[in-house]
Amino acid sequence: MKIIKSTLIIMTAAAMMSCGPKGDPQLGKSSIDKVIAAMTLEEKAHLVIGTGMAGASGEAPVVGETRNLVPGAAGTTYPIPRLGIPAIVLADGPAGLRINPVREGDENTYYCTHFPIGTLLASTWNPELVKQVGAAIGEEVLEYGVDVLLAPALNIHRNPLCGRNFEYYSEDPLISGKIAAAYVNGIQSNGVGTSIKHYALNNQETNRMKNDVHVSPRAVREIYLKGFGIAVQESQPWTVMSSYNYVNGVYTSESKDLQTTMLRDEWGFRGMVMTDWFGGQDAVAQMEAGNDMLQPGRPGQFEDIVNGVREGRLPEEVLDRNVRRVLELILKSPRFKGYEFSNKPDLKAHAEVTRESAAEGMVLLENNGVLPLASDVRNIALFGTTSYDFIAGGTGSGNVNRAYTVSLLEGLEKAGYSVDADLSGIYSKYIEEETARLNPKSDDMMAMFIPKVRAGEFVPSAEMLERTVAANDLAIITLGRNSGEFLDRKIADFTLTDEEIGLITAVCGAFHDAGKKVVVLLNIGGVIETSSWKTVPDAVLCAWQAGQEGGNSVADVLKGVVSPSGRLTMTFPMAYSDHASSANFPIDLSFGMFGKDKDVEPQRNVDYTEYEEGIYVGYRWFDKQNLAVSYPFGYGLSYTAFEWSGASVKVGNKETVVTVNVKNTGSSNGKEVVELYVAAPSGGIDKPVKELRAFAKTNDLAPGETQQISLRINNSDLASYNESQNAWIVDEGEYSFMLGASSRDIRTTLTAHVKGSVTKTNALSFNK
Ligand code: BGC
Repeated sequence: MKIIKSTLIIMTAAAMMSCGPKGDPQLGKSSIDKVIAAMTLEEKAHLVIGTGMAGASGEAPVVGETRNLVPGAAGTTYPIPRLGIPAIVLADGPAGLRINPVREGDENTYYCTHFPIGTLLASTWNPELVKQVGAAIGEEVLEYGVDVLLAPALNIHRNPLCGRNFEYYSEDPLISGKIAAAYVNGIQSNGVGTSIKHYALNNQETNRMKNDVHVSPRAVREIYLKGFGIAVQESQPWTVMSSYNYVNGVYTSESKDLQTTMLRDEWGFRGMVMTDWFGGQDAVAQMEAGNDMLQPGRPGQFEDIVNGVREGRLPEEVLDRNVRRVLELILKSPRFKGYEFSNKPDLKAHAEVTRESAAEGMVLLENNGVLPLASDVRNIALFGTTSYDFIAGGTGSGNVNRAYTVSLLEGLEKAGYSVDADLSGIYSKYIEEETARLNPKSDDMMAMFIPKVRAGEFVPSAEMLERTVAANDLAIITLGRNSGEFLDRKIADFTLTDEEIGLITAVCGAFHDAGKKVVVLLNIGGVIETSSWKTVPDAVLCAWQAGQEGGNSVADVLKGVVSPSGRLTMTFPMAYSDHASSANFPIDLSFGMFGKDKDVEPQRNVDYTEYEEGIYVGYRWFDKQNLAVSYPFGYGLSYTAFEWSGASVKVGNKETVVTVNVKNTGSSNGKEVVELYVAAPSGGIDKPVKELRAFAKTNDLAPGETQQISLRINNSDLASYNESQNAWIVDEGEYSFMLGASSRDIRTTLTAHVKGSVTKTNALSFNK
């Protein structure tokens, strides 16, 4: 915990005594029991509801203007001054803190650092690094006077077209959970809170507030909840945010199974649960389920709760339980403790943190030796509109109001390269004109929520190509994609446009004819089609959306200051339709923010979505079907080479340890990722060909250096979920422990006998 700079706060003399002026108990001075006992029913109902949201329909009045505590924050809790209960502030979101950068009548600015998107952070496969990023984000949260950051977001990448995949981590629950836990531990090391979201099964944006997920208990447990369980157990986030959708007919925020049985009884969660903004519908059911707080507060919720208690539909003890959890959260908060925030976080230091972490999460997909760039490469021709208009991150609540974004052009120039000025002039003019034409009514506010339409590509003329080839040593083409909250991506966003293919073909043709190389850079937030064109250029680097220092981070990788060590946390399929979930995903349907009403004819993938693929999400599906992929889960190249040797496995009573030596046999420094997949004996149920059960990243190894890696697995984590027995079952028998550099590049397979075990669980019925 950071040292609290000053304990002096605006505290009245009354608040410093255990009782207020009228003898009221004071939070923090009197026991929580006494504070609750002194609360009126109305005060309790207010405390479990946020203070409303500006501009929201029928908006509830904000008590004491709490929304001005930190302008631009997503919400606050309800203050009750007579009991010494302050309002605390909740703000988004995963890639950094989202607040307003400027304030009326105030000359200061309140920019936050835009860190890399969640997918990039996960692609580092480096929880220690993610923890450091979290620590930096948390410092901004603390120093800007925010108490809880509404992040991380760890829904599973069920389908490549989910509009918010960029905020999420992976198609695999283990890496999702481990990265989320690291992020939470980093943020909370500042003495501020987090909210792991969106709990759970919010895997599409289309009709997200009314969509009903139809899913099996096994898939729920093995795929969709597992990451949340890991995050809760390994980091105890201060809060959890329930999701918008229904699961098997029940709103997640109204599901006791999710909010109490799983979260608290099975995983031991000790914090508070809040809804997603305006989520769910029945305030009494939400209270009962254990969804302690409703955000941001909607007219009608207050009456529902008060009347619920008065009419005996909501036991007051249930309300008191939720009130207690809200009070426990407030007690931990910096605002309650009187932390005097500076409004001056260390943005300079954080620019370095984002630059370095972004470089580590970039994934080198192809390289025929052109990267790192040779020292005689000086002049570079930059193609693709995105080279000049770099995308720092996605849109919606995951956006961050940053002071700047370093484009590829700027990054390369700062790294000492000379970028073709004529080409740059042509692109700048084109982007300006096209952006204005394509976004006639766009304003900044809308752009934050809905991705602006980006200028498409054009195929350079023969003349333009001839000139740029003659004047440059190499070409870089950047392909860009942006997406965000409220909307899923379209198939057209997954595939390349004719102009993009034309651009790659024309530039590669012209440069290759002159014996010069071409690098393609992907500045994307989600998976795109790669199989049809990936071998045309000389290298492909997936830079993801790398935050505000993106151009600098890319330049560090291209130049070889950093050897790429990112690995994909999802499969890049040959075709979109190869994903099992594509049979049940809202493909190319347009339903906006508030979606469609359930009372009209239910529509597949809008009103409900069948998770027919069960546990076969991502590589689990591609392996089961033995389908060719463009890039497998876990894949990524390096500038150096590694040799793995001396692998061994030791199965103990509780834990299995797999050990391997990794040696850097190449000629430059680099980090390697070791992935441990396990195949279990069937035990009578269908099981995946293999599943990621552990992973580790080496240190930055110098040429010739060796590091021993030990991967530890709790034997109970080798279980599959058996629905007929409502139990996690480890089947006794021979297990294969596969050490891989990707899910399709298994270097060594060890076998060992593991004893069986059965862990009984509650049956999930998803009733209220
Ligand atoms: C998003 C959440 C976010 C909340 C508050 C919702 O629309 O789904 O992720 O935290 O708004 O801004």
